[in-house]
Amino acid sequence: MTESLFTPLALRDIDIPNRVMVSPMCQYSAEDGFATEWHRVHLGSRAVGGAGIVMTEATAVSPAGRISPGDLGIWSDDHADALEETVTFMRDRGTVPGIQLAHAGRKGSVTPPWDGGTPIPVDEGGWEVLAPSADPYPHPEGDPVPTQAMTRDDMDRVKAQFRLAAERAHEVGFQIAEVHLAHGYLLHEFLSPVTNDRDDEYGGSFENRARFPLEVVETVRDVWPDELPVFVRISATDWLPDRPSWDLDGSAQLVPLLADAGADLIDVSSGGIHPDQQVPESGPGYQIPYAERVADATDAAVGAVGGITTPEQADQLIRNGRADLAILGREHLRNPYFTLEAAHELGVDVEWPKQYERGRFR
Ligand SMILES: Cc1cc2nc3c(=O)[nH]c(=O)nc-3n(C[C@H](O)[C@H](O)[C@H](O)COP(=O)(O)O)c2cc1C
Repeated sequence: MTESLFTPLALRDIDIPNRVMVSPMCQYSAEDGFATEWHRVHLGSRAVGGAGIVMTEATAVSPAGRISPGDLGIWSDDHADALEETVTFMRDRGTVPGIQLAHAGRKGSVTPPWDGGTPIPVDEGGWEVLAPSADPYPHPEGDPVPTQAMTRDDMDRVKAQFRLAAERAHEVGFQIAEVHLAHGYLLHEFLSPVTNDRDDEYGGSFENRARFPLEVVETVRDVWPDELPVFVRISATDWLPDRPSWDLDGSAQLVPLLADAGADLIDVSSGGIHPDQQVPESGPGYQIPYAERVADATDAAVGAVGGITTPEQADQLIRNGRADLAILGREHLRNPYFTLEAAHELGVDVEWPKQYERGRFR
């Protein structure tokens, strides 16, 4: 039987009702890392819209792991508690709630995009950032953010932060933990030769650069219940062909190791490590070929993201076996009800929220 956008996806003991995921998207609207009314409405309305999975934005495992001061965090039980009602609401709607666990590494301590995304000096509310090497991110504007090369102790601390974050997330009802290994943030910084010039067992060869990210995935898997899936988001390439960098071959080599470390689905994105990146094109489905390449290298499920905007396109992605999950970001900013509309357009009968039943047929 051909699978389609509305074929449930079974991962571990979870049945995801359809193949649409709301991509993680920073809202820069948390207060001291705490979820606010914005998160409740934003995440909640996308669950009302019928997406099979709603993934939170990058949720920092520590204050220093934030991108901006407005990032969501889960570095204390109180932070997790602030998300609990929203998680319960999403589950009651039949959506599977996921949390993207993240550490921003050297890309932290910046203002939100609407204030320019520029570095915040330490004496103006910013913070020193951690990275594999003491090489600051080359922000086009502003002074570089002070960047410390991580010691082995730092790495143990960050691993413990991911572990505690995952435990808290499970405690409040999240059903998927996604480890953020993409977009030039801390774990991607270990993978990429652009940002990792360590000379210990965490730098140099592919095996060494992959070691810490794999340790983190194993740590999360270790505390995440066996019956629930772990996702990992990767950047398939740095888009820096002219210098030693992370590329598709590295990704193809990495994904079986991620699966061995406990990843059930690889969410395939790209880029973000350096402002010199040369993005070839970003039209419809621009990263789908990367997802296909990754799928060839692993038995884990694969999600495609980037420029997926229409029901037909998302449905074809699944029908043609190019990916197991259609992940949509910006389209969900335009239309929280994408999935309900997709069902209507594709002629599939799905349950609507009873409150919205009158809007079902034009
Ligand atoms: C406002 C905004 C915030 C984002 N924040 C995150 C994030 O927190 N974590 C992440 O992995 N990707 C983040 N992304 C990237 C999206 O998840 C997605 O991969 C990207 O927008 C491409 O998909 P699209 O073409 O469907 O939007 C963000 C994108 C946008 C537009």
